[in-house]
Amino acid sequence: MINLQSDHVKKRIFSGIQPTGNLHLGNYLGAIKNWVNLQNHISSIFSIVDLHAITVPQEPLKLKSSTHEVTAAIIASGIDINKSILFNQSSVKEHSELAWILNCVCRIGWLNRMTQFKEKAGKHKENATVGLYGYPVLMASDILLYKSTHVPVGDDQKQHIELVRDIASSFNNMFTPQNEPDFFTLPEPQIIGEATRVMSLRDGTKKMSKSDPSDASRVNLTDTKEEISNKIKKAKTDPFPLPDTLDELKNRPEAYNLLSIYSSLSDQTLEKALTEFSGKGFSHFKPKLIELAVETLNPISCEMRNLLKNTNEIDKILKDGELKAREIAEPVLKDVKKLVGFVN
Ligand code: TRP
Repeated sequence: MINLQSDHVKKRIFSGIQPTGNLHLGNYLGAIKNWVNLQNHISSIFSIVDLHAITVPQEPLKLKSSTHEVTAAIIASGIDINKSILFNQSSVKEHSELAWILNCVCRIGWLNRMTQFKEKAGKHKENATVGLYGYPVLMASDILLYKSTHVPVGDDQKQHIELVRDIASSFNNMFTPQNEPDFFTLPEPQIIGEATRVMSLRDGTKKMSKSDPSDASRVNLTDTKEEISNKIKKAKTDPFPLPDTLDELKNRPEAYNLLSIYSSLSDQTLEKALTEFSGKGFSHFKPKLIELAVETLNPISCEMRNLLKNTNEIDKILKDGELKAREIAEPVLKDVKKLVGFVN
């Protein structure tokens, strides 16, 4: 008889964000804003996934300042550390330890199907790190270490969550003792909101990205009012007024993107936002979008700057999150080790 310590949870969410470069509107609308809503309803754990960041080369000093920046952005956006657990991944060593065990459950064939690895590794697959290849296994470890039931993620992470489910059920088959309930619950992806995929302001068919060489392609959370205003003014459009129907809108990537941003910032459906502007030109729509974007983002960037004045305070917040995360993670990893048959 194996005596297990970890609880079975009803509902818990886990999500992560990488500490790389400046956060932008896509990160805010696609991830952080949803987290802020979720934390009021469900036990929530959010991690700044620095172990994931180093799957591609990072400059050490830059990694550190980005970790501070992302933490500040998350708090400035409304994550309440009395409701949610917020910590940086590498501070909880259990993530790496579980990842190793899951490496020995996950099959090479499963990883070979991952489209994100193919995209990120590009033509130089032989030169990619083993870490980049195993990235989704570390993600599985993040999620399963807390027996999370729901994972809010962008569209591009859906395949990774499918893999996490495969790894979890494989672990269950291999190690759950007979007549016991499955050790890991299979987590569900939660793809939320109209603007989960915010596109570039210069090209409505490309995702808004930190790595785009053109800064005008994105609104950064640290941009000033003037920068936000100028970027939206210059954002690519087409010469037509906004259409009457969603179908027509969907054929116009730039119009679709800007209106999605508007609807997401104003917490209304895309349909409702469209009725407000259909038949109107961009010269009417853009100033409204600018007003709304500045109104939402300016308080966040002010608060961020404030928090970043004292990085010791940020370190304390992360430390506190680390301790809370480990309270949950430790018993789960202990159980895993028992199930696998390690003597401890
Ligand atoms: N891979 C995710 C991304 O790039 C980040 C991430 C790491 C994550 N671990 C996670 C997201 C666990 C959800 C759950 O967006």
